[in-house]
Amino acid sequence: REQTEPANSESDAVLDRSAQAQRGNHLTTAQGVRLPDTDHSLKAGSRGPSLMEDFHLREKITHFDHERIPERVVHARGAAAHGTFRAYGTASSVTKAGFLEKDRETPVFVRFSTVLGSRGSADTVRDVRGFAVKFYTAEGNFDLVGNNMPVFFIQDGIKFPDVIHAGKPHPDREIPQAQTAHDTFWDFVSLHTEATHHVMWAMSDRGIPRSYRTMEGFGVHTFRLVNAEGETSLVKFHWKPVAGVHSLVWEEAQIAAGADPDFHRRDMADGIDAGAPLEFELGLQIMPDSEDETFEGIDLLDPTKLVPEELAEVQLVGKLTLDRNPTNYFAETEQVAFHTANLVPGIEVTDDPLMQARLFSYLDTQLTRLGGPNFTQLPINCPHAAVNDNLRDGMHQTLVHHGQAPYLPNSVDDALPTPATESEGAYVHRPIEVTGPKIRANPVSFDDHFSQATLFWKSLSGIEKVHVIEAFTFELGKCFAQTIQERVLGSLARVDAELCAAVAGGLGLPAPEGTADADVTPSPALSQIPAKPGPIA
Ligand code: HEM
Repeated sequence: REQTEPANSESDAVLDRSAQAQRGNHLTTAQGVRLPDTDHSLKAGSRGPSLMEDFHLREKITHFDHERIPERVVHARGAAAHGTFRAYGTASSVTKAGFLEKDRETPVFVRFSTVLGSRGSADTVRDVRGFAVKFYTAEGNFDLVGNNMPVFFIQDGIKFPDVIHAGKPHPDREIPQAQTAHDTFWDFVSLHTEATHHVMWAMSDRGIPRSYRTMEGFGVHTFRLVNAEGETSLVKFHWKPVAGVHSLVWEEAQIAAGADPDFHRRDMADGIDAGAPLEFELGLQIMPDSEDETFEGIDLLDPTKLVPEELAEVQLVGKLTLDRNPTNYFAETEQVAFHTANLVPGIEVTDDPLMQARLFSYLDTQLTRLGGPNFTQLPINCPHAAVNDNLRDGMHQTLVHHGQAPYLPNSVDDALPTPATESEGAYVHRPIEVTGPKIRANPVSFDDHFSQATLFWKSLSGIEKVHVIEAFTFELGKCFAQTIQERVLGSLARVDAELCAAVAGGLGLPAPEGTADADVTPSPALSQIPAKPGPIA
């Protein structure tokens, strides 16, 4: 297979462009004309007025006026670092992805984020954390765009605008949910009981991590792996922090949000500067590829479900080390564009309907956020593999293409890019059979909304349960509408009677009785998983 440029940090496009950014010793205009003075505008006399002909004043102010780009519609606040991924080689039997071959080192850029807050919000709020990894592999960029929780609030991406609208600050006063009325978020999740499992994680200590270096990461969806023989298996991706999983307690999180809203980004940047890189191991849970895409009765296409590690061990396949801070926040952390459709041969997606919507959404939003279709030319997004894409022109085109005929096949140009075969490294989709009537519906298996929320509750130690009860009581205590509080208690009753009674007591409301779903059959394998012993402390 033709290998492209070596993928190492020496070839990092960001560093190349950084050297080009500030050349020469004199201050110049953007056109390279040297300037005598940048402190005084050109005026008619020392008392003005300022003159329109002052090209330096106009250029300087105009450029400043356009310094900001739209923040991300979600995950706006983030911090990132560069590093390397080194593969152990233990995944080679299940995937032909080159970056997972033994001892292969691949440069990476990782952005951690909160979901709901704006770019200037605090780091330690209770929220899900994004964990987005860009691997600059020799076969093209692979992005693993995950979170620090293994499940999601909704099962179908068509509901993503709804869940985000419910969680973002209220549209009238732009006051974040965390500070005032919580009605919309709790209204949404109580009307969509599929969210219950994720809400349990968000109300647990996982919602307030101690540090980015102490978070787990999850690809959430089930992906399909393909090995060199063309055999497939289903997989869930995990990041295991070498420093272990640690959280703040709520009082610490609140104090940090006030005293040091940059708590997490400072911790990461200072740690790297001090020679303490962030380290994570990549793990795979491998499940057989079956026609119904279930494992031990768990529907692998349902992103509100995880596969317990007791049922499928997480096998470690490589190590991620983040050891270099960005040179420029805007050029790297802000302009990086992750996309779930950035895949490499050996890794494919499945029909998880949340995943399917994401495959559309990221590129679409980045066309606006990064101003047109050429943002892959930005140094941070630039693949380290050779690119010859026949895409031309457009806003912010910075490349000078040659040739007359950017179409294939053509008989005009000499140096034509040719399509590759699979053995030459082409991404060839497995011919998975797709059948079924066109309908707007979920499979019946998606109707089980509570069994894994209960499993999560039972996995917690006594003090962790106390934290969950306190978090529900605190957050629901901010709701104005008692009907919403009661509806959430109705969901909690179906998770666990003790949890429901404790939260209801905290709110001064009666605890409702839980009702079982007659039509739902949870995975029997879940009942074999032992609960964490010990009383609620
Ligand atoms: C951004 C994760 C579901 C749309 C992000 C980011 C992460 C993430 C980590 C931040 C990327 C960065 O650091 O630049 C997830 C996970 C999901 C999920 C784990 C579910 C399992 C969805 C869905 C949609 C969506 C269902 C839409 C249908 C977006 C958009 C952005 C984003 C529009 C902003 C991207 C940008 O401007 O660069 N997501 N997301 N996400 N996500 Fe998701």
